[in-house]
Amino acid sequence: MELLRIENLTKIIRKKKIIDSISLTVNSGEIVGFLGPNGAGKTTTIKMIMGLFHITSGKITICGHDVATDFENAMKHVGGIIENPDLYKRMTGRENLEYFASMHENVARENIDGIVELVKMKDRINDKVKTYSLGMCQRIGIAQALLHNPRLLVLDEPTNGLDPLGIKELRDMLKFLAKEADVGVFISSHLLSEMELMCDRIYIIDNGVIIGEKSIHQEEETVDETVYEYAFVTNDNEKALTYLKEFDTESKIANGGISALLKHNEVPDIIAKLVKDNIKIYAVNQKHRSLEQDFISMTTGSKTQIR
Ligand SMILES: Nc1ncnc2c1ncn2[C@@H]1O[C@H](COP(=O)(O)OP(=O)(O)O)[C@@H](O)[C@H]1O
Ligand SMILES: [Mg+2]
Repeated sequence: MELLRIENLTKIIRKKKIIDSISLTVNSGEIVGFLGPNGAGKTTTIKMIMGLFHITSGKITICGHDVATDFENAMKHVGGIIENPDLYKRMTGRENLEYFASMHENVARENIDGIVELVKMKDRINDKVKTYSLGMCQRIGIAQALLHNPRLLVLDEPTNGLDPLGIKELRDMLKFLAKEADVGVFISSHLLSEMELMCDRIYIIDNGVIIGEKSIHQEEETVDETVYEYAFVTNDNEKALTYLKEFDTESKIANGGISALLKHNEVPDIIAKLVKDNIKIYAVNQKHRSLEQDFISMTTGSKTQIR
């Protein structure tokens, strides 16, 4: 089910196009990344989703409700944190959640215990927020965003300042929410490695323009037929090269080994054949063209455009 739909969204601030006709969707059960360097327009977009920024043109709908014309119904289905969670440091985690619940309609206080458990804060919920680590504050922020049972969770750079363990815990929690509670998650970050581990899909934004969309798992599923560059190190490179040329006529001796472009699913048979011909293989390396390379080439590419 489609939870978030953004169509041709544009934001102009003081005559400057900050967001330039972007379109994207988030479905239930899906973690969608919004990746881009600082200043790309992530926070601006998220503020428009949350109704905190006026939309210049285009349309945002949440569960079918237009944020501009049906704001209250749209907001019923979305919870979010923009930049850092806003918590009262002298109050406990539970008091913060109770206070927040009392301030908002549609928030069931009975939900609090379940949500505290979900964000793994049960042991510390009665301690004052000022004693919490950043990761714990982040989890209370997410708990707060979940109190009204939204279908869509929107998080703006929630891993900023978290240590690797905190990032992993956040990732596990979001995956649990998406897979078990069917929540859709829209999460921004400027860190590609993080997005690759966390997301099902990623939109890449640069200078207010979406310059790419990547499906992470799809890549893994179709990996079989993908052609990668492989580097072989053997005891008889000349002999091995003759054989590899059957698969890649361009294969060549390079850096004391052989470089060949091969289909991923053919590699095990090729290795078996080389071994059978008494060629000793010391190493086989796949030179993975990662999303990182795509990202860099896409973003540096777009910077050179005249805007
Ligand atoms: N209130 C504002 N007034 C003017 N310019 C703004 C305002 N908010 C953001 N910007 C500009 O919009 C661009 C995108 O900012 P932002 O959405 O914060 O990027 P990101 O969150 O991806 O780092 C930046 O160039 C920023 O300077
Ligand atoms: Mg930002």
